[in-house]
Amino acid sequence: MRIFAFAGSLRKESLNHQLAQIISSKLQDSNVDVDLAKFSEFNMPLFDGDLQSVSGIPDSTQKLADRISMADGLVIVSPEYNHGVPGPLKNAIDWLSRIRPFPTAGKPCFLASAAPGLVGGTRGLIAMRPALSFMGAWISGESFSLAQANQMMAEGKIVNDELDKILNGMLERFTKVTASLQIK
Ligand SMILES: Cc1cc2nc3c(=O)[nH]c(=O)nc-3n(C[C@H](O)[C@H](O)[C@H](O)COP(=O)(O)O)c2cc1C
Repeated sequence: MRIFAFAGSLRKESLNHQLAQIISSKLQDSNVDVDLAKFSEFNMPLFDGDLQSVSGIPDSTQKLADRISMADGLVIVSPEYNHGVPGPLKNAIDWLSRIRPFPTAGKPCFLASAAPGLVGGTRGLIAMRPALSFMGAWISGESFSLAQANQMMAEGKIVNDELDKILNGMLERFTKVTASLQIK
C-alpha cells in the first residue's frame, strides 16, 4: 500500500510538516510505502480561469495530481488560517479540481493538523472536508489535531504518550480502511 503525504504549509520550520514526518514514519513502521512531499515542490500560481484557458493546468499542479494518483491513499496535514483552510492549500485544491477525473476520486484520506494554540487547527480540517468530499475523496471520520504543537514534538516523536497512542489507533484504522477501499 502506498500513501502520499504532505503538509499544507510552505514554511521551512512548519509544525505541520513535522507532524507529517511523524505520521509518515509511523506508517512506514507498519510496512506502508510512504511518499512524503514538501508542499513547496508544487508551487503554483493563484487560480485564474483565464490562465487555465490560455496555458492549461500548471505543471506543478499536474505533478501534485500525479503523486496523488500514484497513491492508494492520502494524508494531508494542515494548519488552520483564521479558522479555515490556508490560502495556498485551498488554491492547490481548486487547481486540482480542474483535472478530470479528480485525482482525489476514490482516495481514502486522513486529515491531521498542528498548531501552537489550544485548538490544534481542527477547524481548518472541518473546512477542508466539503471540497475534498466533492472531489471524491473518502475522508476518514476521525482526524488528529495536535494542540500546543510547538511543545508536543521532539526528536521526530510526539512527546505525550496518550496523544501518541490516539494517533497510532487512528492510523491503524485508516490503513485498514485504505487496504479494503481500493476504488478505481
Ligand atoms: C494567516 C494566519 C492565520 C492563522 N490563523 C490561525 C487560526 O485560526 N488558528 C490557529 O490555531 N492558529 C492560527 N495561526 C497560527 C498557526 O497555527 C501557526 O502559525 C502554525 O505554526 C502554522 O503552521 P506551520 O507551522 O505548519 O506553518 C495562523 C497563522 C497565520 C500565518
